[in-house]
Amino acid sequence: VTPPSPAASPAPRVGGLPSYRPGRSAADALADHGVADAIKLASNELPWGPVPSVVEVLRRQAAEVNRYPDHLAKRLRARLASELGVQPSQVATGAGAVGLLNQLALAYVAPGDEVVRGEPSFEAYPIFTRLAGGTDVAVANEHHRLDTAAMAAAVSPRTKLVLVANPNNPTGTAVTLDAILELASFLPPGALLVVDEAYREFVTDPAAGSALALAREHPNVVVLRTFSKAHGLAALRVGYAVAHCSVVETLDKVLIPFSVGALGQEAALASLDAGGEVAGRVAVAVDERRRMAAAVAEAGWDIPDAQANFIWLPAGEGAALLGRHLERAGVVARTFEGAGVRVTVGTADQNDRFLGALPPPGPTSWPLRKPGVGKRAVASPAGDHLGAQRP
Ligand SMILES: Cc1ncc(COP(=O)(O)O)c(C=O)c1O
Repeated sequence: VTPPSPAASPAPRVGGLPSYRPGRSAADALADHGVADAIKLASNELPWGPVPSVVEVLRRQAAEVNRYPDHLAKRLRARLASELGVQPSQVATGAGAVGLLNQLALAYVAPGDEVVRGEPSFEAYPIFTRLAGGTDVAVANEHHRLDTAAMAAAVSPRTKLVLVANPNNPTGTAVTLDAILELASFLPPGALLVVDEAYREFVTDPAAGSALALAREHPNVVVLRTFSKAHGLAALRVGYAVAHCSVVETLDKVLIPFSVGALGQEAALASLDAGGEVAGRVAVAVDERRRMAAAVAEAGWDIPDAQANFIWLPAGEGAALLGRHLERAGVVARTFEGAGVRVTVGTADQNDRFLGALPPPGPTSWPLRKPGVGKRAVASPAGDHLGAQRP
C-alpha cells in the first residue's frame, strides 16, 4: 500500500510534543546488555500481584467483558465517597491518575494559559499542558523538594493549574499541608490547585498531611489518587479525583466514554474490601524502603527523605552512567539524565540485588563490566554513549 503523500500533519500543539516514555523493561536490558535475568525497578509498581480475592473477582468478571462497563463507575464512586467522607458528586473516576490529569488540562487549560509544576516532577505534566496549548511553567525544586514558595511566586493571572505531586515523583519527598495551604492562597480566581497523591498510602512522615480535607472544603483544590500503586492494579487503569461537584461535572464532560473498564471497577471495589491485606503489603514496602535508604546512606550516598515506594539517587551529571551501571548488573531503574536515578522498592531479594550493585557516589569511578568481556574498564561519560540512553 502506498502511504498517502504528503503524510498527514498533526496539529502544531501535538507535532512538537515529546512522547511519554514508560520505564525500561527487563527485556530492554536483555536486548541492550545481554542480561537475561534482569529485574525491573523502573515504574514504581508494587512488586506483588493483586491480593488473591481481587484475582478471583477478575477471573469471574472476565466472562462478562462482552458488555460495556458503567461509564461513570457509579458504584466505585459511591464506595470511595463513603470511605473518604464526601458526597459521590465530589468523586470523579478516570483512566488512572494520568487520565484525570489529561482531563484537567483539557477542561481547564486554554491556549496561552499557564500550568505551574516542580522540576523535576512527574514527566506527564508538561505533556498534558502542551497538548492543551498551555504554557508549562517549571519551578526548580529546592533540596529535591517542591519549592512551594517559589511555585507561589510563579503563579500569574494566566495560571489555570498548579500541580503538586505529594510525594513528588521522582524525588520521593513530601511537602507539608501548611505549605500546600499557603500555595492555595496564591491561586487566581478560576484556577485549580491539583494535589497528586498517587503515592499517598506510602507516606509515613506525620508532617506530610493529605490535602483531602482541603479538597472537601475548598472549591479550588483537587486531590488525585490511584489504584495503580498501593493496590497493585497498574494494568487496569483506575484513578480518581476528589473535588468540588462543579469540577467533577466538568471532568466528566471530557471523560472518554468507558475509560474505566469493568475489570478495573470490580477489582478496585474488591481491593477496597481487602483493605487490611493491602495495608499489610504497603507496610512491607515501607519497611523495605527504610532498609534501602539506610543501606544507601551507609554506602555514602546523600539521598533525600523517601516518602513513596521508591528512592532517589541524586547522581547529577553521573545519572546516565549510574543507570547504565545498574542495568548491566541486571537492575533496571529509571534514569533522569543530568539529575538522578529513581529506584522502585521491590521484593526483599530484588532490593538486595540493587544494593549489591550500587556503587559508591562519584560519577567517574564506577567500573563498567561489559557482558561477555572479562576485563574492567573505567567509563568516562563521553566514551559511554550516554546521550543515547532512554530514561
Ligand atoms: C505523581 C504521579 N501521578 C500519577 C501517576 C500515574 O498514575 P496512574 O497509573 O494512576 O495513571 C504516577 C505514576 O507513575 C505518578 O508518579
